[in-house]
Amino acid sequence: MKITFKKSLAALLALVLLFSCVGVTGSAEATTGYETTRLNCTVYGDTQTQRGFTWYTSRPCDTAIQVVDAGNYKLSGFQKAVTYTGTVSEWDGYYCHKVVVTGLEPGTDYRYRAGSLEYNTWSAMGKFVTDNADGKFSFIAIADVQARDHEEYVQASNVMRAAMDYTPGAEFAINLGDFVNDCTSEEWLDFGEIFADVNTKLTYVPVAGNHDGNITNKLNVGWFDAQFNLLYGDGELNGVNGVYYSYDYGNAHFTVLNSNDMYPMTEMQKNWIINDITNSDAHWKILLVHRAPYAVGKNVHKPDNAIMRKTIIEIVDETGVDFVFSGHDHVYFRTVQVANDKPCEGTYYVTEKFQGQDVTFAVNPEGAIYTLPSTAGGKRYSVQTVGATIKDCADTYFATGDMGGCFSNVVIDGDRLVYRAYAVDDKTQEVTQIDEYAIKKNVADEPTEGTDLPTGVIENLDNSAGNFITQILALIIGYIELIPDLILGLF
Ligand SMILES: [Fe+2]
Repeated sequence: MKITFKKSLAALLALVLLFSCVGVTGSAEATTGYETTRLNCTVYGDTQTQRGFTWYTSRPCDTAIQVVDAGNYKLSGFQKAVTYTGTVSEWDGYYCHKVVVTGLEPGTDYRYRAGSLEYNTWSAMGKFVTDNADGKFSFIAIADVQARDHEEYVQASNVMRAAMDYTPGAEFAINLGDFVNDCTSEEWLDFGEIFADVNTKLTYVPVAGNHDGNITNKLNVGWFDAQFNLLYGDGELNGVNGVYYSYDYGNAHFTVLNSNDMYPMTEMQKNWIINDITNSDAHWKILLVHRAPYAVGKNVHKPDNAIMRKTIIEIVDETGVDFVFSGHDHVYFRTVQVANDKPCEGTYYVTEKFQGQDVTFAVNPEGAIYTLPSTAGGKRYSVQTVGATIKDCADTYFATGDMGGCFSNVVIDGDRLVYRAYAVDDKTQEVTQIDEYAIKKNVADEPTEGTDLPTGVIENLDNSAGNFITQILALIIGYIELIPDLILGLF
């Protein structure tokens, strides 16, 4: 009797197992192609109450995102989440989903998941925090992930992970452009997959790079716009070869340029930038642009960069920008205070405690600081070109070669801004500080005299004859590369 019972039980379990397997297989087949990939959360207008989201699926389906504050998520997951819906459109054989989330509470920690209500397929949990507008915040900046293979994406993602671990209070991350190298769906998928755990853990601020799809890059029009959900600035051509936009965070105004549209810059974008910055009464004005006005890599004197440089410098001077962040040249570079393409005279510095550390601040300085936080990726350039004015304006610059991938962190606390740059060892992921610069602005104690800036942390001047020849060759190649642009510009 016992044996019969055991046999019956075994048969029953086998049937249950068989049907559950069929169920799982059926379910997996039913949801294949609806999994979310390339998910990211971006600034979208008001950073206190709104965010933009983008993700992809392989098959067309509905678009939904569920958002809940961290407290309720801890109690009941997404049960109390608000569901938002959006749009879906085909892009290069995949399906691009975009949602704008509105009505968020300022200064709140949120959890979200993206996917399909119809197929009940959801991403892993993501998170972001909204701006509480108290003027105290921190952010990360990286540039030029531009991986040429899977390994270089892993390397760059390790830099981003190290940056987030090292600066846990950072509320958003700026990527200064060149997310990809050849701008294919496969590369964007790889980027999205390898960076997934960091891309979905804080708000992103993407800057359009020349490799992210633009008119010079195999006519890949619209690629950057297809990867991110951003609230455009004015301009009917905005979004074609990149996107320009702006946002406020705390007491700072950030203006994000599209340097694929800058040689020469269209009047549309130029007017928009000037109006955008001039109309802001934020305490800090920060400009983000992929092509670097000041750098010492192989790109800075190429014609496209040289043409853009002049325009940007004039705009920065005219509008009172404090800090300019760039990428593109894959070296580390930071100027002294610069105005009219010259070092400012008589900048006054004081050293005082900031968050427990001694920090030297430029007090009410004239001009702006331009910095290029090197590359987070593995494609690192040597120092090749030092034009006279660029060298005069430089405080510190060097090739980051064996140091590892780099990131920067900015802490703003009211009228004080502290910028620091770091290198992340390729093998150990050990973080080393490579630079620091700080500004104290609109303070009561007006400086009475100028003192010298403390010397830069590292200098690696490399002006060999070999570099000179490389520079000439790069210049010639640069002109040849401009020919398609010039032809396209005629139409
Ligand atoms: Fe670039």
